[in-house]
Amino acid sequence: MATSSRRMRAVQYDKYGGGAQALKHVEVPIPTPKKGEVLIKMEAGSINQVDWKFQKGVARPFMPNKFPFIPVYDLAGEVVELGRGVSSFKVGDKVIAINFPGGGGLAEYAVAQASRTAPRPPEVSAAVGACLPIAAVTALVALRTAGVSLDAGDGGGGGAKKNVLVTAASGGVGHFAVQLASAAGHRVTATCGARNAGLVGGLGADEVLDYATPEGAALRSPSGRRYDAVVHCAAVAGLPWSAFAPVLADAGVVVDLTPGAAAFATALRQRVTFSRKRLVPLFVSPTKEDMELVAGMVAEGKLRAVIESRHPLSRAEEGWARSMAGHATGKIIVEMGDEQ
Ligand SMILES: NC(=O)c1ccc[n+]([C@@H]2O[C@H](COP(=O)([O-])OP(=O)(O)OC[C@H]3O[C@@H](n4cnc5c(N)ncnc54)[C@H](OP(=O)(O)O)[C@@H]3O)[C@@H](O)[C@H]2O)c1
Repeated sequence: MATSSRRMRAVQYDKYGGGAQALKHVEVPIPTPKKGEVLIKMEAGSINQVDWKFQKGVARPFMPNKFPFIPVYDLAGEVVELGRGVSSFKVGDKVIAINFPGGGGLAEYAVAQASRTAPRPPEVSAAVGACLPIAAVTALVALRTAGVSLDAGDGGGGGAKKNVLVTAASGGVGHFAVQLASAAGHRVTATCGARNAGLVGGLGADEVLDYATPEGAALRSPSGRRYDAVVHCAAVAGLPWSAFAPVLADAGVVVDLTPGAAAFATALRQRVTFSRKRLVPLFVSPTKEDMELVAGMVAEGKLRAVIESRHPLSRAEEGWARSMAGHATGKIIVEMGDEQ
């Protein structure tokens, strides 16, 4: 397939800031896969908070480091061309992938490293597949980092049964973390808004705290349990260590997925003082192996993706604005198929 002269629809922005209104619909050349890359005909992509945070300029001037930039890292579609040296995929393979930091997902075609592309089982739709690379793999790695055994299906496997707290359990990452911890037999406490308590309970949380109540804000378990592990997804600016310390077990670990400067300072102080309770700032770089693992779990019915909303590429800005509002229940998907 000759790609260089062919064009595609895409959505891009050309400077920092501006939110959904700064997204522009354009026609650009279809990218050509370089050595080690695959070209994917996109079926779906998912918008994550990182997409619009980078647009805001939180990682300025490194990400994005050039404009215009086609955002969205989570890709799902079909391989239509192989770059030099790629033998692990063939044209026609259905895949999911992450293309970080290159992005490119808000387009009809996108490239990704073959080494960061995973086969998509037939049971996993493109929309569901697009939910997995960042959100599900982050949930998986965060639990592992917190020392939570994930031998799903065997009541906690070789690891001890733990008390796990997941904050923002109704969000993209949190709803996967609840399911993974619960399926492995751990006791899960979750925070979310009152409207999502039923959903989060249905995903496997056995205690649900409304974050708008004093108990919820204090992360206090109704049964008085202390947490061995916390997957902290709630993007609460500056939730201090003092909010976690009283509710942690002796050697409790908080994995902070939205760490600010104070979190890094706390983590450093704890290292030098050999503190048993620990805060671990974490940025996850999803691997092919972990993408395969979560896609396999979805195919086997052990994990499910909750989708907040689906938007055609022609209205991608609506999904972007919804993500920026911070109240998504599950994942926000943009689809590239035929549009009415
Ligand atoms: N470090 C990493 O590698 C990594 C990877 C992925 C994501 N993240 C970060 O992790 C965070 C979560 O990501 P996400 O994709 O799950 O976000 P998301 O889907 O946009 O989260 C939205 C959800 O958060 C809930 N929420 C908001 N404030 C809350 C609070 N104070 N307590 C409990 N729930 C609250 C909302 O509930 P209501 O609608 O009821 O308010 C909503 O359901 C983001 O900051 C993201 O940037 C980090």
